[in-house]
Amino acid sequence: MRVEFDETNLLARMVGERDGLSASEINQDSSKALEALRAFQKTSEAGGQGFPDLPFQGETTREVLKCARELRGSYDTVCLVGIGGSALGAWALDCAIRGPHPVQQAFSPKHPRLVVLDNVDPSFAGAALDSMNPKKTVLVVTAKSGSTAETAATFLMARDWLVRKLGRKAQARIAVVTSQGRGDLSALAGREGYRTFTIPDNVGGRFSVLSAVGLLPAALIGLDVRKLLKGARAMTHDCWQPDLNKNLALRAALLHYLIWTLKKKPIQVAFAYSNRLWGTAFWFRQLWAESLGKARNRKGDLVHVGQTPVAALGATDQHSQVQLYTEGPNDKVFTFWSVRKHRHSGRIPKARLKLEAFDYLAGKSLAELIDAERRSTEAALVEAQRPNCTFTLERVDEEHLGAFLQLLEFQTAFMGELLDINAFDQEGVELGKRFTYGLMGRPGYETYRGRFLQYEKRHADRA
Ligand code: PA5
Repeated sequence: MRVEFDETNLLARMVGERDGLSASEINQDSSKALEALRAFQKTSEAGGQGFPDLPFQGETTREVLKCARELRGSYDTVCLVGIGGSALGAWALDCAIRGPHPVQQAFSPKHPRLVVLDNVDPSFAGAALDSMNPKKTVLVVTAKSGSTAETAATFLMARDWLVRKLGRKAQARIAVVTSQGRGDLSALAGREGYRTFTIPDNVGGRFSVLSAVGLLPAALIGLDVRKLLKGARAMTHDCWQPDLNKNLALRAALLHYLIWTLKKKPIQVAFAYSNRLWGTAFWFRQLWAESLGKARNRKGDLVHVGQTPVAALGATDQHSQVQLYTEGPNDKVFTFWSVRKHRHSGRIPKARLKLEAFDYLAGKSLAELIDAERRSTEAALVEAQRPNCTFTLERVDEEHLGAFLQLLEFQTAFMGELLDINAFDQEGVELGKRFTYGLMGRPGYETYRGRFLQYEKRHADRA
């Protein structure tokens, strides 16, 4: 397993002192990285955060593999109902290993597809149900809280759709992933006798991809979850090392922290040069935004800290975003995600057409071209004094993906320590949720309905 991090283009010698880091700026703060490591290690060892332990939990792996074995052959579609951290990880795994959706292998009981119902757009949900055969579908519903409105509503629809076709047999086609013995989803699963998988209490949604949240759908669509965990275990080992040369997550966290805070880069572009990593870029977008966007630090001071993550796809977005990135405000740091060995080389035929725009490409490959495009974009950004860095994955397979996801989670946790914020809560999304419950008539949320109606009145008055 090989994952690398190249920070050269974050340095002042490449992009200038105003936008790049000098050796003294890095040295001055490198002790902060060790403090962040120690602090997070302490939290993790005390059981405060569980994601570092997930790759070592054999029991969950055995349970999900058993479930996949028992059901294998009886379905061609896995329908996942969940949202946020309960959906994005599974999508990232599916996209990386089975391939980006438009070019996935035709689905069949041997190669089941994943349909993720993570939105309550009625035409999306309706069309998704129409596209599936209830007799060949396994329904997985995932919610740590067991009460998320979007998930509850979509699950009620999907469950009804399944029961109408299969009657009592539907029960065996439904699996639930939720907190143990807590929340209404767990209560329903107990009442109906659904297969149930638990999410450890100390693992938050966006850090849960290597729990049953990601492993169950992954195993059901035939991914090698053991290899995924093998890569994650190796990376976890590295992420506890105090040596910044061995610990890529800690080094990347420190350098991103310095470039963000000292050089004023409130935006990070995760620039994936691989369609297979596109799902991972969206998973990362949630991880970085929800973990690091906070009103207060741990002392309780109002800080309104956060770095806006943007997902970009190379080379496609060179023709969409790079104009802005190169000439617009110099407020971004770019993290390229590069792949050394692609599954196909994309060999370009050797035949020459005696036309300049085509002939220089003859006999080369798309792999060479996408690599040249990334390196050229890096160089162009350097000329424009835009700091950038690169993660390189040897290949996109289960082992490298498991390692990379774990690296990004550790990096996020270390960044939380460096910023002195709680990276594991998400208070900022609660009020909107409560207003929705109030509006939809959930008991106990009447005051939020009242507050919302006051807001609407103010809104109407202004109009
Ligand atoms: O990271 C998080 O905790 C959130 O994004 C949750 O995953 C998301 O809100 C869904 O929550 P739940 O799993 O309870 O439905």
